[in-house]
Amino acid sequence: MALLTMVSVPASISAQPQQRQRQPQKWEGLADTPQMGWNSWNKFGGNISEELIRQQADAMVEEGLVDAGYIYLNMDDCWHGERDADGFVQPDPKTFPSGIASLADYVHSKGMKLGIYSDAGRKTCAGRTGSFGHEYQDAIQYARWGIDYLKYDWCSSENINPRGAYTLMRDALRAAGRPIFFSMCEWGSNKPWEWAAEVGHSWRTTGDITARFTGDPRQRGWGQTVLSIIDQNAPLRKYAGPGHWNDPDMLEVGNGMSVNEDRAHFTMWCMMAAPLILGNDLSKMTEETRAIILNKDVIAIDQDKLGVQGLRYKSENEIEYWFKPLEGGDWAFCILNRTEEPATLDIDWQDFNLTDDEVSNLSTSFDRITYSVKDLWKAPAKKAKAVTTKKNMSVTVPGHDVALYRLTPQADKKKK
Ligand code: GLA
Repeated sequence: MALLTMVSVPASISAQPQQRQRQPQKWEGLADTPQMGWNSWNKFGGNISEELIRQQADAMVEEGLVDAGYIYLNMDDCWHGERDADGFVQPDPKTFPSGIASLADYVHSKGMKLGIYSDAGRKTCAGRTGSFGHEYQDAIQYARWGIDYLKYDWCSSENINPRGAYTLMRDALRAAGRPIFFSMCEWGSNKPWEWAAEVGHSWRTTGDITARFTGDPRQRGWGQTVLSIIDQNAPLRKYAGPGHWNDPDMLEVGNGMSVNEDRAHFTMWCMMAAPLILGNDLSKMTEETRAIILNKDVIAIDQDKLGVQGLRYKSENEIEYWFKPLEGGDWAFCILNRTEEPATLDIDWQDFNLTDDEVSNLSTSFDRITYSVKDLWKAPAKKAKAVTTKKNMSVTVPGHDVALYRLTPQADKKKK
């Protein structure tokens, strides 16, 4: 320490203009809106194989999911085998005998992108080969295979500096030369929202989701619920935006909750501008699941170009009122009923004159602007009068469900 304080820099050197080295950066332009796709973990856990991934790829196309924007097909944990003699990681020869490059070709030929999973520690969460000490080599391998997306986990990370570890992999991905989406998965343990905007394209904000709407998150250890995740993710809205999103974990739609709960879960993820990564078996879907994940008007709320995470404006008796500013002066308005009972509500728009000081600075201005009100989950009855914000609106929201509307300012009808 004494030595350090004694070192002095000659004036002639310190006066030189600093030669700035260009720092590596993350790949830009991959996350203008939150990423959409599918991941194997929530439904299949470690039981994955190349047949499964191909089967899900086929279903993605046949079900119209690719057209709806779900373009990433992501393998989670357990695709891995061992490293070869040169240290390059290989797929599990039993479950991925044709190799990852041929799988990537297949997925690309269907108009999708292929995602892979690794971990900053020596082992992944399921005990497979992690990237620690092999970051550049792994990035090169992914690029060679034609990978487009990396989810990077945080198991066996004792004594690893989180910012350093994720920045190292970011730089490795950049150096490998292929644009690869970087999805950080350290569960919010080190507040990535405070430092990771320049590191990753999204970061997990919570522990793992389960297909449960409510209840004690600790009841099943690590298992979070839809409501516990919303409560952790909601206050982080100011950190999210185009290029860097809060990730409240993957979707559980179609994995066992009720239809109302699935609808509420999907809607709230859209209100929070969350990544929409499906987690169900796409080859066996019910009509109800299809209707939820393929609702284009609802997806448009998530994918809105403004990229503002919605705001929980008011909460009363477990009924929450959320607003999300959208491009062109529109707003998404959502009512979330956290209780099990239906709630009948009289909406007086004048209760919701708000300004989003925290992120967008936009105001609803119901006192000045009349909006048309479009129900995004229910088509209006044939002869029903168009709803506007001129009059109060009565609505019944079933238990564990939502009502979701798109509000569009009405054109000024007065002609000059
Ligand atoms: C962690 C992650 C999950 C999943 C598993 C795989 O728990 O948070 O999303 O990737 O690891 O083992």
